[in-house]
Amino acid sequence: MQTNAIETFSPSQTLKQAAIAKLRSRQANIGVIGLGYVGLPLALLFSEERFRVMGFDVDGGKVEALASGESYICRLPSTEIALARSRGFAPTSDFAHISNMDAVVICVPTPLNEHREPDLTYITTTVQSISPYLRAGQLLVLESTTYPGTTKELVLPLIENNCCGLRVSRDDCSDSRDVVFLAFSPEREDPSNNTIARRDIPKVVGGIDQHARDIAVELYSSIFRHTVPVSSTDVAEMTKLLENIYRCVNIALVNELKLLCLRMGIDIWEVIAAASSKPFGFQPFYPGPGLGGHCIPIDPFYLSWKARECDFSTRFIELAGEINTAMPYHIVDFISQALNRSQKPMKGAKVLVLGISYKKDIDDLRESPALTIIESLQTSGVQVSYNDPYFPSIGRGRKYNLNLRSVPLDHLEQYDCVAIITDHSDYDYRRIVEQAQLVIDTRNATAGICSPNIVRC
Ligand SMILES: NC(=O)c1ccc[n+]([C@@H]2O[C@H](COP(=O)([O-])OP(=O)(O)OC[C@H]3O[C@@H](n4cnc5c(N)ncnc54)[C@H](O)[C@@H]3O)[C@@H](O)[C@H]2O)c1
Repeated sequence: MQTNAIETFSPSQTLKQAAIAKLRSRQANIGVIGLGYVGLPLALLFSEERFRVMGFDVDGGKVEALASGESYICRLPSTEIALARSRGFAPTSDFAHISNMDAVVICVPTPLNEHREPDLTYITTTVQSISPYLRAGQLLVLESTTYPGTTKELVLPLIENNCCGLRVSRDDCSDSRDVVFLAFSPEREDPSNNTIARRDIPKVVGGIDQHARDIAVELYSSIFRHTVPVSSTDVAEMTKLLENIYRCVNIALVNELKLLCLRMGIDIWEVIAAASSKPFGFQPFYPGPGLGGHCIPIDPFYLSWKARECDFSTRFIELAGEINTAMPYHIVDFISQALNRSQKPMKGAKVLVLGISYKKDIDDLRESPALTIIESLQTSGVQVSYNDPYFPSIGRGRKYNLNLRSVPLDHLEQYDCVAIITDHSDYDYRRIVEQAQLVIDTRNATAGICSPNIVRC
């Protein structure tokens, strides 16, 4: 027997289908809030895929630069900004335009405050600023790294308390027409890694409900080859933290083993290379002068803070933090000991720090161990100079006021010590070793060079 069943959709299903259709046909307007290292490349990816993209930022200088087709991030050439501008990419500080967006992605900072606790003010300020302009049917995605529960416990009530009559779509409110869809999708950035195209990095997506997840999956499928849908925003948030904690703990492990190997006269780099020949069960991590960047030194502590709510102590995270935080001070000790062996006191010694960004070949100084090392050397009376092609000068930061200018890389013999802190690819290490009196190498940048003036640590 044949039945002529008429399919009926709930109001939120109808809104979802409309949202998906708009995304598929590239008719959707995409808004990206926070045009920094994460938000700007994301906006450009959407623009490449022929979406009309608006970028929102409270920093008028950034909006102005982008409006004139200029980039402020080294690895994004201005030509890319100009091209996106010609395709309609519009930067603005005016949140009233949010009402014209179909999908809004939030990429604002999530730092720690002075007590090393999560500082979510950027997220709350953003949600409060956009709330008056939200309308039914829009998708909102949080990309800022944060502890599990943020989207559900913080963003969701903020939206509902600030938007008159608007609700966030949940599995139990399918009959409402006045809903926005809310999701979380963590960013996976590896600055300076040119081995994988951004669109080949799988994108994890979790929604407050299944509708939100489906729309968010559609959104990201337009710019990423693979999406990984997960069952909730909590799972998506925790996934990002697991990834970063995994790195943080393993880097701490190898940093600690490096200190032991130095004492035992074993070359940790040779050990790691040999262990890496194992075809299963081992992934190499490398020691260095300490952790840097916006993610690895910070994100794990978002989880530690949240864990305290559950009477739970995240001991691996605390221990890894302790070891990694101590690394820059170990490097200062190694410099002091090496100078001492040359009968030179720290006070008055001339030290050139090579590379100050937190990672090689990038223009990002956030949480860089080089800053701690420079400050600590200065405190000991060392005359510190630095060279970094990515930073002509360093002034006042959140924690430091160093007020230095990058010096040219010549007459290296004038320094008592040259300390390689960040191993930028452009440096000619052979020449540096030939010219310098003493080289402290914290990155194995001088591998293969044999000279008595190198101290690897
Ligand atoms: N940089 C990375 O490699 C990376 C990788 C993965 C995840 N993340 C996460 O992504 C988020 C953003 O990081 P980022 O590196 O892009 O930060 P960023 O500091 O480079 O950029 C953030 C931007 O947000 C803007 N902003 C601040 N408050 C705002 C507001 N209320 N409204 C609009 N714009 C505002 C700032 O002016 C800035 O341009 C953080 O949560 C970070 O942990 C970063």
